[in-house]
Amino acid sequence: MKEVTLELRLQVYASADQAPPPLGALLQEAKTAMESAYAPYSKFRVGAAVLLENGAVVRGSNQENASFPEGLCAERVALFAAGAQHPGIPAVAIAVIADKLDEGWVSPCGGCRQVMLETETRSGKPLSVVLTNLSGQVGVVSSAATLLPWCFDGHLLFH
Ligand code: THU
Repeated sequence: MKEVTLELRLQVYASADQAPPPLGALLQEAKTAMESAYAPYSKFRVGAAVLLENGAVVRGSNQENASFPEGLCAERVALFAAGAQHPGIPAVAIAVIADKLDEGWVSPCGGCRQVMLETETRSGKPLSVVLTNLSGQVGVVSSAATLLPWCFDGHLLFH
């Protein structure tokens, strides 16, 4: 028997000011995006901002619906909007923030991780995921792939 260990590396900066400038600024964009959340059912507002290789920023926020499963997370709203509005331009980073933070890190759901991962594999460029917590620290995962090991790739095979 052998055991396989998977690693998740999170680079931690004490504040947005200390993070690499484009990533600190992207988190601020995510915070602004959160203002457009439509979350009357969960009352949990989420904001996301995607930075494209050409410098464009696309914002997203969670959008809910009375038919609950039809709502969509902030990250996917932003990533799909980026794909629709800037086809073919690689996304290099996505920042995520929520209005009810605690000492833990904002943690994107599995569905959003799957979409982040395919955004990355499709462009061939690493997608950094920028997170935060109640203390205002900034956490950076330098590739979406590490957030979703053994993902579904359309064939139910592990690589
Ligand atoms: N939500 C996000 O926007 N992103 C996530 O990664 C997880 C959850 C939203 C969906 C729903 O509107 C609310 O948060 C509560 O689940």
